[in-house]
Amino acid sequence: MNQPVTVPLAIEARGVAADYSGVIALDQVDLQLPSGRFIAVIGPNGAGKSTLLKLLTGLKKPLRGGLRVCGMAIRAARRANAVAYVPQETDIDWTFPITVQDVVLSGRYGRSRQAGGWRYWLPPRFIGASHRALTQQAMEAVQIAGLAHRPIGALSGGQKKRVFIARSIAQEAELLLLDEPLAGVDRHSEQIIIDYLRAFVGRGKSVLMVTHDLPTVRDCADRVVLVSRTIAGVGTPDEMLAPEALEKGYHLIERGPAQP
Ligand SMILES: Nc1ncnc2c1ncn2[C@@H]1O[C@H](COP(=O)(O)OP(=O)(O)OP(=O)(O)O)[C@@H](O)[C@H]1O
Ligand SMILES: [Mg+2]
Repeated sequence: MNQPVTVPLAIEARGVAADYSGVIALDQVDLQLPSGRFIAVIGPNGAGKSTLLKLLTGLKKPLRGGLRVCGMAIRAARRANAVAYVPQETDIDWTFPITVQDVVLSGRYGRSRQAGGWRYWLPPRFIGASHRALTQQAMEAVQIAGLAHRPIGALSGGQKKRVFIARSIAQEAELLLLDEPLAGVDRHSEQIIIDYLRAFVGRGKSVLMVTHDLPTVRDCADRVVLVSRTIAGVGTPDEMLAPEALEKGYHLIERGPAQP
């Protein structure tokens, strides 16, 4: 008899806390989110949304608790290139002298090293032709191939977002973590981004997107996580965008930071 195939959870967190210099940013975070869904993360400014994404990428270590992504420990998921991350705009140095193409190509570095062999030791500029072809396809998917040789600092807000989404496409990840990819983005760019994310989820992959854009959450999300220094709720858009749920989340943040 065939055993049912169990798909690993996209995200698991148990008893997670995170701090900055002793000030708690997140506490008692427990989450279990399935794969193959479009999950929106909402919550007030300073609620810990970006901190949650940094914990899931391994950029930040938890003070307490454990996290897993795509059924793997964070380090293993990084090594497997399972998770791609599009940072919040304020976390990127836009003055860094790098072209659009090179940013997108950097999404292939992990995969080119994963291939092993002598190529592992080559500097990124010797990355192989197949990686360059995938970089080109990723730029085309979000309509930025025409900007390939522009420095990233010379782009509009929507173009900048699409560059980092193209980098995540190039990475061929299972889970995409996006921190406010729609902030400061025009309608045209927003549509391109949303269409891509929907198609990505349609292929069985997972999206976790932080956003303040509640109409888009209603349109796109399968599940909504409300963050307010802890997980204030998880549910359908109808449940979590109801005034009582939002009020609860925004009320929690007003109580001020807890101490570790
Ligand atoms: N590098 C840092 N050093 C010190 N405190 C920080 C740092 N980054 C974030 N914090 C603090 O941690 C808390 C959570 O911040 P975080 O950036 O995760 O919030 P957020 O929900 O992403 O907010 P926003 O909607 O404004 O992006 C805030 O109180 C913030 O001031
Ligand atoms: Mg943030």
